[in-house]
Amino acid sequence: MTAGPLICPVCAAPLAGTTTALCCPAGHHFDRAREGYVNLLPARGRRAVDRGDTAAMLRARRTFLEAGYYLPLLAALYDDIASLLPPASPLARPMDEGSKAEALPLHPSESMLDAGCGEGWYLASLGARLAAAGRPVQLIGTDISRDAARLTARRYPEILTLVADTARRLPLADGAARIVLNVFAPRNPAEFARVLAPGGLLLTVIPAPEHLRELRAVAPLLAIEPDKESELIARLTAAGRLYPAGRTPVAYAMRLPPAAVQALVMMSPAAHHLDDADLQLVAELPAMTITASFVVLRFIRR
Ligand SMILES: C[S@@+](CC[C@H](N)C(=O)[O-])C[C@H]1O[C@@H](n2cnc3c(N)ncnc32)[C@H](O)[C@@H]1O
Ligand SMILES: [Zn+2]
Repeated sequence: MTAGPLICPVCAAPLAGTTTALCCPAGHHFDRAREGYVNLLPARGRRAVDRGDTAAMLRARRTFLEAGYYLPLLAALYDDIASLLPPASPLARPMDEGSKAEALPLHPSESMLDAGCGEGWYLASLGARLAAAGRPVQLIGTDISRDAARLTARRYPEILTLVADTARRLPLADGAARIVLNVFAPRNPAEFARVLAPGGLLLTVIPAPEHLRELRAVAPLLAIEPDKESELIARLTAAGRLYPAGRTPVAYAMRLPPAAVQALVMMSPAAHHLDDADLQLVAELPAMTITASFVVLRFIRR
């Protein structure tokens, strides 16, 4: 049994891990699913799983992300993370040393939490780059969707994958995360500040107003609120525990074949609302050149 950065979602005591479960000293017990993730939603919150992304949306996103269309965004995130973490120590142990074992990948070390991790591509890719640079971190992915947890845990056993609701208390101890990653997913300013260590980094990614401009003109995507960035900064910094540490715009053109154009619609939140006519329209979308435009916002925990 190993202790790590997790806390019990019921009583907030430290959680210890075995190969089959996570449990706290008070006897709250959370089984590991066959695919390797652990569902930490308290019983009364389990209905909330309906709010997360569907398996079809997650599969569309995986196909799109693994084709590399968002690699420039990944590179920007990596640069921010690498500049925060100390230089590689000669004693650093590569993360994948233990990955052949069947145990939950839970051990004390610097943690990176991806809140709303989806199918896991960003977290796994960043973790692999850090490990290759000799700076391994414990990877923790949370998502409210069980399908997201399933896809993440199956493909990336090195990630400690948890079903958890960002709107509630996150299952991490105070200060347990050196980095919180949050890519197009719901935010909880108080919880992000609580789980970050002093000096830790929150990286949150939002779409810029021109993101997918050409696709928005022809497909039923949801609109981007014009004041999203300033409103988000105000919300994240209101309590004075996170302060803004800069922004990196990432913008480029993507030449996409029809399948990738269609995946972009099917992986977006709009996919929750498509009717038969919309689906027909999406299936007929041609190859297109489409603008990708994101803003990476950095916040430091005081
Ligand atoms: C647009 S997707 C982004 C996923 C991933 N970060 C990515 O960019 O590929 C939003 C994700 O947030 C998850 N989500 C929605 N509400 C959530 C909540 N309250 N707590 C945790 N995750 C949530 C969804 O299930 C989905 O996986
Ligand atoms: Zn407990």
